[in-house]
Amino acid sequence: MELFDVYPLLDINIVKGSGCKVWDDKGTEYLDLYGGHAVISIGHSHPHYINKVNEQLNKLGFYSNSVINTMQQKLASRLGKICGYDDYQLFLINSGAEANENALKLASFTNGRTRVLAASKAFHGRTSLAVEATDNPKIIAPINANNHVTYLPLNDIMAWKRELEKGDVCACIIECIQGVGGIRLADAGFAQKLQKACREHGAVLICDEIQCGYGRSGKFFAHQWLGIRPDIITVAKGIANGFPMGALLISPQFKPQYGQLGTTFGGNHLACSAALAVLDVMEDENLVENARETGDYLIGRLKELQKENSHITDVRGRGLMIGIELDIPHKHVREKLVYELHCFTGCASTNILRLLPPLCFTKEMADEFIIRLKKALG
Ligand SMILES: Cc1ncc(COP(=O)(O)O)c(C=O)c1O
Repeated sequence: MELFDVYPLLDINIVKGSGCKVWDDKGTEYLDLYGGHAVISIGHSHPHYINKVNEQLNKLGFYSNSVINTMQQKLASRLGKICGYDDYQLFLINSGAEANENALKLASFTNGRTRVLAASKAFHGRTSLAVEATDNPKIIAPINANNHVTYLPLNDIMAWKRELEKGDVCACIIECIQGVGGIRLADAGFAQKLQKACREHGAVLICDEIQCGYGRSGKFFAHQWLGIRPDIITVAKGIANGFPMGALLISPQFKPQYGQLGTTFGGNHLACSAALAVLDVMEDENLVENARETGDYLIGRLKELQKENSHITDVRGRGLMIGIELDIPHKHVREKLVYELHCFTGCASTNILRLLPPLCFTKEMADEFIIRLKKALG
């Protein structure tokens, strides 16, 4: 059987990882500023993570959500304290799209409405509602095009208010730092007014923190830079450092009902052991602070480089979620970075490099990246 060929692949077989480095099958070492698409939070193959997941696997990998799983309760309690949402409720699933899917369902169950406002250039995943809220017609299949969603420019509060005033909006979903959209930041004024308007008009505010959350922005959540408290927060990617997991943090205003949401695999024992190990390391190694400090440093160095290299037209981001906009297509720059200079980066649009390294990235690594980027840009 052949693979269903939907991914344009780099011709590299990564077989090993440690911290912010990965190695291919020929032994070549790469500096990782991509983090497997923002998934690697605490670094590749962290020894504590390996121990904890191994330990759990030796005891019990999986049972079911029909019995008590104290690891879920432990995760809820620790995560609530670390991220500042102790009074919220946790629902565990397996991926980012599933998190947004459930968030939108829960919003609709609660207020009985079906209309969603999402931002232009948003990416929220590939399942039915999540993909409908994603502003990319190429990935919305006819079966998903059900006219639930209106896309509006991020930060244009008047446009969002006009729609909310119609009184039929179920939910507004935003990424406070858009990832696939090209590292575009929501501003505090917009976010605060949007929260207020959602409350006035009975709409649920959902912050998709799947890429920008879990410490990446230099605060636990990117929306915490903006002074808002969303009704539902969705997370995935970094939550379990590569073990498939997603979650919803749900405000106390939502009252759970048996059977309303559910999943077979979500919150299984092995996934919880991975997520708990991630929280241990994030705390022990102060990774949120590191993301802020190293991110500020890297953004500073990139802005210096921008002054001497005319190909860089903008540098933006927060913490270790950084966009470098170029006046040339990113394709050749990225290829040079990866094949010749052995450095993984992400991308967005046709001309934006997107940096999403593990949160243990260091200033020395940032300096090394600047040297390689300078070479790649000629
Ligand atoms: C902001 C955002 N939301 C949702 C998703 C979907 O997550 P998943 O691929 O785990 O379904 C992604 C994935 O890149 C994302 O960046």
